Amino acid sequence: MAYDNPNFFHTKSSSINEEISLEPFSISGYSLFMKREDRIHSEVSGNKFRKLKYLVEDMKVSPKRAILTFGGAFSNHIAATAAMGKLFGIPTVGVIRGEELEQYKENNPTLQYASGCGMRLIFISRSDYRDKDQGDVLKRYVSDLHEYYIIPEGGTSSLAVKGCSEILSDTDTKFDYVAAAVGTGGTFAGILNSLQPHQEGIGFSVLNGTFQKEILGKFSNNTHYHLTDKYNFGGYAKIDSELVRFINKFKEIAGIQLDPVYTAKMMYGIMNLMKEGYFRKNSRILAIHTGGLQGIEGMNLRLKSKNLPQIEI
Ligand SMILES: Cc1ncc(COP(=O)(O)O)c(C=O)c1O
Repeated sequence: MAYDNPNFFHTKSSSINEEISLEPFSISGYSLFMKREDRIHSEVSGNKFRKLKYLVEDMKVSPKRAILTFGGAFSNHIAATAAMGKLFGIPTVGVIRGEELEQYKENNPTLQYASGCGMRLIFISRSDYRDKDQGDVLKRYVSDLHEYYIIPEGGTSSLAVKGCSEILSDTDTKFDYVAAAVGTGGTFAGILNSLQPHQEGIGFSVLNGTFQKEILGKFSNNTHYHLTDKYNFGGYAKIDSELVRFINKFKEIAGIQLDPVYTAKMMYGIMNLMKEGYFRKNSRILAIHTGGLQGIEGMNLRLKSKNLPQIEI
């Protein structure tokens, strides 16, 4: 096994902050920076790098010799786990939501990528996926389940949260607000754990609701945050022409590619909160770019099939 890839999780543990000029967006009175976690590694990027770091270390000292994890058709977590497995020589299995996807897998860039990294894909029905933690549901698909180190959906666990608490570095204490997109809540919980008392966390739920508060409370004692789903564009992976236009404009002006599922909704939300006067005047805001760029190709295929404008890459 090639577990000891010496330069992987250890060499580069902090990413740079880039200033975003707000004038072209007709906003003034704040300074906005983006932490380029998407640049931290070419294949295991953003919050996935952080989430997998300690999980891989834990797996190395466990008797398990392969990883099994879960995700949807365009999952960043599936892509990153597959890439990490390839880099470390760890066999990986991805349990994918939706058995109908098997016949379309050749047309799905995320699944193609994962499978190209050597990940074995197992497609299960949506109802079994929902019940996957119950009884013997998974054993019907994976007979030797006990052999696997299981990483939960979205990669969220206490070790993942520990990794995400390393996103911020000492110099980031100068910011008044730190913003992140929120799916399961693990990444934001890690960020909350490393905030100073004068800093407020701003979480943008990309799902319907702010039920992640429960997870946040489980993994962090910090309650100094604001969590909203107001900028979720209708729910998980929902997108319209306005968001596509925003992504393309942001890239043109700031030179930074946003992903449509997470970081674009966060950035759109930040700018709207600025316009609505949520932030204190002259405050400094740090937005975390949590990666997810691999999902753009798949989203563009969906936009194309609906004759909608596409995201410029
Ligand atoms: C690119 C990206 N950003 C943000 C998130 C949200 O992370 P979490 O599920 O820990 O809230 C995810 C999901 O893992 C993601 O893929």
